[in-house]
Formats: sequence, structure tokens, C-alpha cells
Amino acid sequence: MSPMSKFIVNGGRPVIGRVSIQGSKNAALPILAATLLCTGKSKICRCSELSDIDASVDILRSLGCQCTVDDKCVEVDSGRVCEYTVSECLMSRMRSSIIYMGALLARCGRAEVSFPGGCELGSRPIDLHLSSLRLMGAEIDESGGYLHCEAPHGLHGAYIDLPVASVGTTENIILAAVTAEGRTVIRNAAREPEIVDLCAYLRQCGAKIDGDGQGVIAIDGVGRLRGTEYSVMPDRIAAVTYLAAAAITGGDVEVYDCRPEHMYPVLSYFEQAGCDLTVTDSSVRLRAYGRPRRFEVISTHVYPGFPTDAQPIMLAVSTVADGTSMFVENIFSCRYKYADRLQKMGAHIRISERVAVVEGVERLHGAKVSATDLRGGAAVLLAALAAEGTTVIDNICHIERGYEHIDDILNSLNADVKRVNDDVEQPNEPC
Ligand code: EPU
Repeated sequence: MSPMSKFIVNGGRPVIGRVSIQGSKNAALPILAATLLCTGKSKICRCSELSDIDASVDILRSLGCQCTVDDKCVEVDSGRVCEYTVSECLMSRMRSSIIYMGALLARCGRAEVSFPGGCELGSRPIDLHLSSLRLMGAEIDESGGYLHCEAPHGLHGAYIDLPVASVGTTENIILAAVTAEGRTVIRNAAREPEIVDLCAYLRQCGAKIDGDGQGVIAIDGVGRLRGTEYSVMPDRIAAVTYLAAAAITGGDVEVYDCRPEHMYPVLSYFEQAGCDLTVTDSSVRLRAYGRPRRFEVISTHVYPGFPTDAQPIMLAVSTVADGTSMFVENIFSCRYKYADRLQKMGAHIRISERVAVVEGVERLHGAKVSATDLRGGAAVLLAALAAEGTTVIDNICHIERGYEHIDDILNSLNADVKRVNDDVEQPNEPC
């Protein structure tokens, strides 16, 4: 995929139709890392065709795993892992590569990784990853841009009280703990569904884990895990994005093959916006009637609160709402970078630190804009679907890190999105 590709969007058409929801990116990434811990082959299905998944497969291959990818199933044979270093080039391709630290320490007793890449959402420290793994017996040195990690006496269980319910830290601890000596207890563990999916996979491989999804996770280390076949959960943020496409364009979309219970923190806000929802066990249909109504306050929190990843999505919807909406971002310090792109399209947004106030306008207009990060890029694309005229979005590699074939899907839903490769212009920010 060329980083210079663009979307050219002719807006103003209602988004209408049905869409099957892709497998969750944020669940697939730690599960692929977890295959390092298994003997025998693992087959991970419903892995979306995304650059972050490609990066994970490249990391596994670089460590000596044999990987085959066939129809969204990644088969991993980690029998001959011979490397414990993830190169800087591979690490910089996605933030979530930091979880290879826990997985490699568990598998090889050593790990060398550089500081991870990923979206620019403000300061994204890894102090909790490091302190937690140190509590489990890892010795970690930082030099030459690399983290050199070693567990000379093996990893052991520990009591870890997280000051922040960090998703990535919880995953790293789980990966390190499932084959460690003794019991690990994580207090204030992240409760996101993606953590529950990782634990379900690991239990199927023979791990002993209790309490995932409930805030305190207890893990009893076992000697070995065996490979298994597992299908990754549906992507709740992708599902919400397609519903938002209907809400912002006055459309009618049904998302299916999804888990509505994971989306409840967001669904009630669509109702607040005046949309009709029909929810079954595995689908949600959203019908919108004209302009959305304003949201009162949307405040992001850890699960089961309103997800930070849906904040840009719902803020895009609020730009054309009938009234003024307010957003409070509590998870990341800098998650409104995309707002100036929406302003260029005619949105009225005022930002003050963690608060955004959006005064809805009747119509946005097309503009030449750039995707800033994955969800910010999705927000710009949503705005373009609703805008009058043509919007050109560059740096779409950010969007394609998390949304599988989003142009084809939107076109099948009555939108007009063209993908163009531009060999001349350089992207503003690397993906
Ligand atoms: N934090 C620390 N120290 C640490 C780790 C995290 O202070 O060592 C702080 C972060 O700075 C942030 C907060 O804790 O303020 C939460 O960060 P968390 O660790 O939970 O986020 P993450 O694991 O880096 C995952 C998702 C993000 C999602 C967040 C929050 C993946 C690959 N990424 O990131 O997804 O926004 O959890 O739910 O699972 C996305 O998909 O667009 C995306 C950014």
C-alpha cells in the first residue's frame, strides 16, 4: 500500500445498506503475539486485511516463526523461534509492537525491542509496561534506542496494582504471566472486550486465567501452551464507524456479524442524536432522519465507559448536528489533532485542552485534507461523506491501518469514494 494514496470523496449521498463487520484489529494483534508462546501450530482466523496485521506477521517471521496467510486466517508455527530482537524498522510500524516484550520474555527469557511507533495521540509512555515486567523478574536496560530485557531466573508471578487501567500493559502482563512460575494478580486491569478475547484464546491454549473483563485478573502460570484454532472477535469501533456514516448522512445502515453488547456505551448516543436503532444478538440497524440532534456531553473513559477510539467518530457526527455538543477526552492528552481538518471543511469546533465544543452547522463543504491518525482519519472520511462537493483526503495509510477495504465497503453502501495513488506528492506525516 502506497503511503501517498488518497481518497476522493463526492459527499452528500445517504449511506444505505448492510455491512459485515471485520475482525477486531486490537484483539488480533495481541493474539498473534501470543502465538509465540504455543507449541504446535496456531491458526488465527478473522484477521482483517490491514497493514497492522501485516506488520505483526512480519514481526513473527523475523523471529523465526513460519507464517502462512490464507483468506484472513494466519497460521503460525512458532516451533523454531530463533530471535529475540524486534528491529526498529518493524517496531516503528505499530504501537502495539510493545507487547512483543512480554511475549518474547516468556518465550525466550530475553527480548530486545525499540520504542514503539503508532498514532500521534499525545504522550504515550510505556512506564507501566516496564515497571510491571520488572515486578515479574525482568531486568530492563534502555540504551541505543533499544530496550534490552532479560529474565535471568525466569519470570515469576507478582501482585501488580496498575495506577491506570492500561490496555497494552494488561496485555503485556498477561502474555508474560501465562507461562511464568506461580500466580500473577493484576489489580485495576483493563476490562476492554479485546482483553477478554485474548484471555479466551489463551485459555483455549491451556492457560489458567480468571477475572478478565472484571478488573482483577488472576493468572496461574502453566508450563506450556498448545497451539489452537481461534476466531478473533468483531471490531466494535469499525461497527460504530459504519453506523456513524449513516447517522451523519441521514442514511440507514445495518452492521451484522458484530457484538452489540460491546457497543452499548456508544449506541445510546446515537439514540440521543435522534436515530432509530434495531438491535439483535449480532446486528444493529441505524436509521437516521435528516440532521442529527446534538449530544449533551460525551466523556471518554476506560471500558465500559465511552471509548476514546469512538470520540473522533462521534465528534464528526456532531459537526452537522442541530445544536452544540461537548466532548471531554480523558484517555489521551492530544486526541483532537484531526479537528482542524474538520474546521477546514466548515465545522465550528473550539478546543481547550481536553474539551471540545462543537457548534453544529447545516452543511460541511469539501476540502483538501489529510488524515492525522487512524480514528482522526476516519472522522475526516465521515465528514467528507456528509459534505457538499468533493473532499480529497491524503495520508490514508493511517485510515487503512484499522479499516479493511473501507472504500469498497462505503461504495457498496451508496457512497462515492475513489482511491487514487499519487506518486508525486509526499505525505505530510509518515504512517
Ligand atoms: N499509559 C501510561 N503508561 C503506560 C501505558 C499507558 O501512562 O505505560 C497511559 C497512556 O498514556 C494513556 C492511557 O494510559 O493515557 C491508556 O493507554 P492504553 O495503554 O490503555 O492504550 P494502548 O494500549 O496504547 C489501546 C488501543 C488504542 C486505544 C487504547 C485505549 C491497541 C493496539 N490500541 O492502546 O487503540 O485507544 O487502548 O482504549 O489495542 C486505535 O485503535 O485507534 C487505538 C489507538
